[in-house]
Amino acid sequence: MDRLKDALLDYHERSKHRVNFYAPGPGGLDWATQPDPFRVFHDAPRVGLPLAADTLATRYNDLRCGALPPARAFDLFSLAILFELSLGLSAWKSYGAQRWALRCNPSSGNLHPTESYLLCPALPGLSAGVYHYVSRDHALEHRATVDDPRWTEAFSENGVLVGISSIHWREAWKYGMRAWRYCQHDCGHVIAAVSYAAAALGWQTRLVEAAADDAVADLLGLGRSEDFGEAEREAPDALLWIGNPESRPDLERMTTALEKAQWHGRANRLSSGHVAWPDIDAIHRATHKPRTREATSPDPQQRPSPDTPALDLGFATIARQRRSAVNFDGNTFIGKTAFFSMLACLLVHRDTPPWNALTSAAAVHAALLVHRVDSLEAGLYLLVRNPDALPDIKQSLRPEWLWRKTGPDDLPLYFLLPYDLRAAAKFICCHQDIGADSCFAVGMIARFEMALKQPWRYRHLFWECGMLGQALYLEAEAAGVRATGIGCFFDDEMHALLGVKGHAWQSLYHFTVGGAVDDHRLSACPPYEVQA
Ligand SMILES: Cc1cc2nc3c(=O)[nH]c(=O)nc-3n(C[C@H](O)[C@H](O)[C@H](O)COP(=O)(O)O)c2cc1C
Repeated sequence: MDRLKDALLDYHERSKHRVNFYAPGPGGLDWATQPDPFRVFHDAPRVGLPLAADTLATRYNDLRCGALPPARAFDLFSLAILFELSLGLSAWKSYGAQRWALRCNPSSGNLHPTESYLLCPALPGLSAGVYHYVSRDHALEHRATVDDPRWTEAFSENGVLVGISSIHWREAWKYGMRAWRYCQHDCGHVIAAVSYAAAALGWQTRLVEAAADDAVADLLGLGRSEDFGEAEREAPDALLWIGNPESRPDLERMTTALEKAQWHGRANRLSSGHVAWPDIDAIHRATHKPRTREATSPDPQQRPSPDTPALDLGFATIARQRRSAVNFDGNTFIGKTAFFSMLACLLVHRDTPPWNALTSAAAVHAALLVHRVDSLEAGLYLLVRNPDALPDIKQSLRPEWLWRKTGPDDLPLYFLLPYDLRAAAKFICCHQDIGADSCFAVGMIARFEMALKQPWRYRHLFWECGMLGQALYLEAEAAGVRATGIGCFFDDEMHALLGVKGHAWQSLYHFTVGGAVDDHRLSACPPYEVQA
């Protein structure tokens, strides 16, 4: 275990951006080897999905308040909506001769390392098996046809599994060593995106936390050398159970049933050449997850009910209009009530998306550098997302912090320091203006020592950060402002600001929310050709 811990710490420290030197990267972009953002499996039978999201009446505000609509039947039509509003394209953008797709899920550098799969029993419109989702075409590729009653029995109740994997090279091509962290953030964003879209269909989502990486790889067909050949491999990330939250599918039975499955398709090669990043291979190995006991969901926590947001829109609209701001105006203020409501939506609530997907208690807290919130003093605040962590976190930060409870009674928000932190936020966000021009910037502070005890939890901490990010993205849209994830930050400068010493707590992701300035040089086109 010490060996794994050392490997983890080695990667964590060397993948930090520092004021005087950034984490090792490629030193420039080799456009000749730019990875294809879309994976396909050639010759796998395809199921085209209907573009059905516009038929969905669910309002975003109901979801964030935990008021899910009646559960839809699991069929092709509903599953098409699930994918369209979580991993589907949301627009094509162009500038001059360049054209690129945006998706409902964000991604560092828009590189989209995450791939997704559907595992299902026979359903109306879909035969049983394993499918790969192609967001570009809004289609499912039938990777494995399973004709074994044990497969169907393994699902036990009404429900399906969504599988998630990552192609690390897609991020490493641009970001080098730190790219592995971004792959994990992106995975967290996807977990949350799936949880919201499933909730909009009345379905609960749970991470199958017990699953070993090897089991996830087997179920998604990721180890099948004959299908990958020279193509870039996918690393197994997670399985999400969408269905009755009290039951779980029998993964061993499914794996056995897959032994006689018929697999289809060959993975496309994404780049003509690759640069090896041994540090990424090393952290991937160090954080390999064995099978563990199924965690029980955390107890429901009291939280203030969020106020209706400024834009009370349908979930489909919010999910598809989500964008990252490239610049903030440096003028916009958000209201105090809207701010508190956003923070309330970051607290774990068992059956409310996206937190219903998590089966462990909150391990990440939000340090808020508040610049422009109406009637709220500028300065440093801390949202303690798990009350059990308060004594420890208090002891681990600067002794001079005020710890003045602020906001609604049941919002665990503390005011630490009155100060204009705009320059500090910009500096910490690798000198990016959006740190200062936002209404507020966030540093996500994780209980890192749990990763040192169980290295696979390092990945889960990043996922939880990504989930917080996805919640903030949607909350910002609903409040009439915009957000941007910040993967580029000086880790130890944030630690110095807070007074964090050692490795008990570490800042793993940053975020900004503010009034966006649009880039009018870009043109936008709809995500999909309208079907006849
Ligand atoms: C993990 C992560 C890290 C990111 N880091 C930055 C960043 O440091 N600076 C920035 O301007 N945008 C950052 N972004 C925003 C991405 O560039 C953006 O998601 C991507 O271009 C796709 O655009 P969209 O979010 O509008 O779909 C980040 C996004 C994610 C998910």
